[in-house]
Amino acid sequence: MSEPVVYLNGHYVALSEAHISVLDRGFIFGDGIYEVIPAYGGHPFRLKHHLQRLANNLSEIRINNPLTLEQWQTAIATVIERNQLDDQSVYLQITRGVAPRDHRFPEQSQPTVVIMTSELKTVSEEKVKQGVKAITLPDNRWLNCHIKSISLLPNVLLRQQAQDQDADEAILVRNGHATEGAASNIFIVQQQCIITPPKSSMLLPGVTRDLVVQIARNKNICLKEQPISESELLQADEIWLTSSTKEVLPVTRLNDKIVGRGRPGPLWQEMYRSYQDYKQHLRSGHPLPES
Ligand code: PDD
Repeated sequence: MSEPVVYLNGHYVALSEAHISVLDRGFIFGDGIYEVIPAYGGHPFRLKHHLQRLANNLSEIRINNPLTLEQWQTAIATVIERNQLDDQSVYLQITRGVAPRDHRFPEQSQPTVVIMTSELKTVSEEKVKQGVKAITLPDNRWLNCHIKSISLLPNVLLRQQAQDQDADEAILVRNGHATEGAASNIFIVQQQCIITPPKSSMLLPGVTRDLVVQIARNKNICLKEQPISESELLQADEIWLTSSTKEVLPVTRLNDKIVGRGRPGPLWQEMYRSYQDYKQHLRSGHPLPES
């Protein structure tokens, strides 16, 4: 198989030729942001939403957006096309660029832009059908979790702690409330109603989360964006995780206790079907209208 092609600062290069300076502020400080965008049959999933979040994040960390919307679209489409994979995970990272090490912003630097893609690794069918295990852990991250920062050390440590306990995800609890997963958003079902925490600086505004909210609203399913206390989480009838790679994933064990009836619940089944339907339309090149 030929080598993957990567977009690096305006050039399309083979992965082995894509080099970045050790002085890049992404490497030195974790000074940058990223996106993960699934592409089904070559069609990126909710691209405008991902690029809007990217633009918001750049402005939050005070980096001028280095590309226009059209340039982003073209570069992403080119990387997808050049890599000839069926379902792909597009990874996009922007850092403040290369400069002598100094915490203060450099007076002049060009942002470093990388776009690469790999085969989309989704959760196995067996796990989706059975549901996964999660554990709760204290949310010890910073207070700007709405920024998709590449400084992911807390998330990495939390996720590994989950893995060490044979769990697929850590659900994070701050001040008595569940915020999100180490790399996913959370939903619970309580008395036939879906609940997800409202957007705030305590969680990432997930693109998948927004689609799930939209689907529920379109189908007139009860959905509330309101805080979830730790005890509500522990007593939930259903718990779901959402992300670009996990899609909508049921949690059937939490801290070694069974969630609901121990299998994916009826509202999850309904949401999962709608989500797969949305994906199928996208894959066939006839996406459902966005809102
Ligand atoms: N992470 N919350 C956190 C902390 C995340 O890292 C992610 C996704 C999400 C879900 O966002 P979205 O639905 O837009 O993928 C929520 C990606 C997939 C990652 O870091 O690999």
